[in-house]
Amino acid sequence: MLHFLVLTLPVFSSSCTLDGNASHHDLGREAVRKMSQSAAGLSWEESVFLDIPSNASARASLEFITRKPHVAGTPGDLHMAQYVRDAFQRAGISAELDPQKVLLTYPISSALQLVDGTGRVVSAAKLAEDVLQTDNTSDTWWRNHTFNAYSPSGDVTAPVVYANFGLPEDFAALKAAGVQVRGAIALMRYGKCFRGLKAMNAQKAGALAAVIYSDPEQDGFAKGSVYPYGPWRPESSVQRGSIQFISLCAGDPTRAYAPHGMDVEELCGYSEKELIPQIPVLPISYGDAAIFLDSLGGPEAPPSFRGALNITYRTGPTETKYKVHLQVANHFQSSPVWNVIGKIPGTLPAELDQPVVLGNHRDAWIFGAADPNSGTAQLLEVAKGLGELLQRGWRPLRSIFLCSWSGEEYGLLGSTAWGEVNGDGQRAVLKRALAYLNVDVGVSGPHFRVAGTPSLAQLLAGVLGHVRHPESQKPLSEQWSGKLYSLGSGSDYTVFIDHLGIPSLDMSFTPGNAQYGVYHSVYDSFTWMATEGDPNFTYHVAMSQVWGLTTLRLAGSTKSGNLPLPLNLTIQAQAIQGYIAEAQESLNGTAQRKLWFEPLEQASEAFLRAAQHASAEADRLRRLGPSAFHEVVAFNNRIGLLERSFLMESGLPGRKWFRHCLQAPGLYTGYGAKTFPGINEAISAEEWDLAQSQIKACAQRIEAAAASITEPNRFITV
Ligand SMILES: *[C@@H]1O[C@H](CO)[C@@H](O)[C@H](O)[C@H]1NC(C)=O
Ligand SMILES: *[C@@H]1O[C@H](CO)[C@@H](O)[C@H](O)[C@H]1NC(C)=O
Ligand SMILES: *[C@@H]1O[C@H](CO)[C@@H](O)[C@H](O)[C@H]1NC(C)=O
Ligand SMILES: *[C@@H]1O[C@H](CO)[C@@H](O)[C@H](O)[C@H]1NC(C)=O
Ligand SMILES: *[C@@H]1O[C@H](CO)[C@@H](O)[C@H](O)[C@H]1NC(C)=O
Ligand SMILES: *[C@@H]1O[C@H](CO)[C@@H](O)[C@H](O)[C@H]1NC(C)=O
Ligand SMILES: *[C@@H]1O[C@H](CO)[C@@H](O)[C@H](O)[C@H]1NC(C)=O
Ligand SMILES: *[C@@H]1O[C@H](CO)[C@@H](O)[C@H](O)[C@H]1NC(C)=O
Ligand SMILES: [Zn+2]
Repeated sequence: MLHFLVLTLPVFSSSCTLDGNASHHDLGREAVRKMSQSAAGLSWEESVFLDIPSNASARASLEFITRKPHVAGTPGDLHMAQYVRDAFQRAGISAELDPQKVLLTYPISSALQLVDGTGRVVSAAKLAEDVLQTDNTSDTWWRNHTFNAYSPSGDVTAPVVYANFGLPEDFAALKAAGVQVRGAIALMRYGKCFRGLKAMNAQKAGALAAVIYSDPEQDGFAKGSVYPYGPWRPESSVQRGSIQFISLCAGDPTRAYAPHGMDVEELCGYSEKELIPQIPVLPISYGDAAIFLDSLGGPEAPPSFRGALNITYRTGPTETKYKVHLQVANHFQSSPVWNVIGKIPGTLPAELDQPVVLGNHRDAWIFGAADPNSGTAQLLEVAKGLGELLQRGWRPLRSIFLCSWSGEEYGLLGSTAWGEVNGDGQRAVLKRALAYLNVDVGVSGPHFRVAGTPSLAQLLAGVLGHVRHPESQKPLSEQWSGKLYSLGSGSDYTVFIDHLGIPSLDMSFTPGNAQYGVYHSVYDSFTWMATEGDPNFTYHVAMSQVWGLTTLRLAGSTKSGNLPLPLNLTIQAQAIQGYIAEAQESLNGTAQRKLWFEPLEQASEAFLRAAQHASAEADRLRRLGPSAFHEVVAFNNRIGLLERSFLMESGLPGRKWFRHCLQAPGLYTGYGAKTFPGINEAISAEEWDLAQSQIKACAQRIEAAAASITEPNRFITV
């Protein structure tokens, strides 16, 4: 039973990570330019740091990490964990493996066939990615074993119906057209929402099984030349990936590592079975999908359902002379994945420390040159740079953690485990963490993109002014759109922002408004990166510089002493006012009269005033200099822990693990963020009492945040 909001009229905007319309706070190019101009120049250690990352070195580490498959929990994963640990240690940073026991699944076999009335197989899916002569890692066992992690095994014979992106509105459209999903196999295309939620929506609609394919409209020939002639997805290529129900709760569905005897039911509000699909799910290529789309009967599909294949898209069901046979066998096992944790201790006393945490996952489907190991190569360049500074006598004021996660691809397993284990208890290292800086797919194209907490925006704009775009050679601050996307889910920042309330950034270079073409296929390889993604490895260098410089400015240096933290809360206040306006705009006149937004408006006004007060206070402390040490300590305590105030003790309605009241992954979109999730999702479901009580609850959190800035002795955490 999935006992969250009952869906009546699906009116969700379908946002996706890379969708240009995804929820964001637009700073505007002019403001970015001003902020980068007024930002501090480079300090001695920053100049030294920026010269360290090198394209040759990033290329060499990427080549090593991508030489063999390193799927979470496999021997390749352990091997690469040891490689990263050793690289941290070579840079002079202490590091150790952090194994976490979790639930994993691996493929055994699968089949997908079109059968006629006599049971004869008329046509069968290949379910394999072709060997490419030009790509020397493509001939791997994994190319014959495409699967979705956490799909149960199963054997189903039924007609297929086509459910577009698998969003609630797609299932509603099928229902309206009289197409029966119950008892059928739901064929859906990738895009718009996290794949696990496609499986969840299909299961809720009564499908017996689900098949998810990559339509060429999203990342294949409709975008441009396909690999190896260009970067986009070729005909046989399959997007693997987890189908965990990530918007209900992230992390290991068993919580075998849980602290204090807690179990998954207590932490998430759901049992293991409710967090993963109970129907078999199989991912396929567009080459294979064409067979099953072509044999659909029923009415022609509405325009929004049509992709780029040269066929007439129909809703189904499959023509009555055929049925479709699907078989999936996957193996479930509990075993360790290996995080690597590096630490550079800060010089502030432990009780005043405010650690800065950098993270990137290392586990991949299958070689992961872009996702995630472009980010891993960058993390190693950052480690080299910080190591060089340590050698030259620099010491950070605050501790820096360098984290290489595993199990991300299954559902953010490694980072969530580490975050939960270290997030609670007075002495937990994350209790006072200042920021979490994530890079997952470091490079898959030329456009700088960032999602994050608005209070970090000004710092980031300043950093971007000191790093050049590899192609234009202009400062990145001039190339950046100024759009700060809201954090949804789909990468390791999730536990830090949504569960622990630690300000976070997630940065990447992307192809623009699309997922890159070889995502989660065997072609996300070193050769793809060296021929299509970043042949000169200069985007690798640029990201390492942005990541490292942001770290240096947050961590501070012992030599400069303790200064007010570089957070701009006024931008946070403006973003909150934008979210309120958005929520109101989503309502028509009738609905507006049902809701009373004043508590939120008043809270956001109070927060804005407090932010301005904090800004004046920071100026004053800066002018006082070293004599203000104790006042700065108190100020930084309040400002640095402020984001915790946005956490709601009982979490969001129907998903208690997500505690941040300002943003969460969309309940039905997963990757895409919802701002004011508790309020907006209640509005979408037309549950007005719930919406009103969520307005009140969120207003209280914002008031608490405002009070925590201005009332020096108030220490607010959940
Ligand atoms: C963004 O929204 C506009 C207007 O609603 C729409 O025309 C456009 O296609 C959307 N863009 C994407 C990438 O979905
Ligand atoms: C490094 O980048 C330069 C261009 O800036 C390029 O000429 C050189 O070949 C690159 N080296 C590697 C190893 O990719
Ligand atoms: C993949 O499957 C093909 C066809 O069954 C087989 O010839 C090939 O040896 C397999 N490749 C690997 C690496 O297992
Ligand atoms: C699309 O398919 C039709 C019928 O099979 C064929 O005649 C036509 O040439 C195809 N168009 C393209 C662009 O491939
Ligand atoms: C595979 O190809 C890449 C780039 O094309 C090359 O650098 C690498 O050495 C090759 N590896 C092997 C094992 O041949
Ligand atoms: C790589 O660097 C060379 C200069 O060394 C330049 O001519 C070329 O355009 C660069 N390639 C890319 C894809 O940026
Ligand atoms: C914080 O950002 C606001 C809005 O962009 C800006 O007006 C203000 O000057 C910034 N504060 C500081 C201290 O730079
Ligand atoms: C206005 O919103 C209400 C509640 O969501 C809905 O029932 C009604 O149909 C909407 N009216 C119009 C004209 O869109
Ligand atoms: Zn990733």
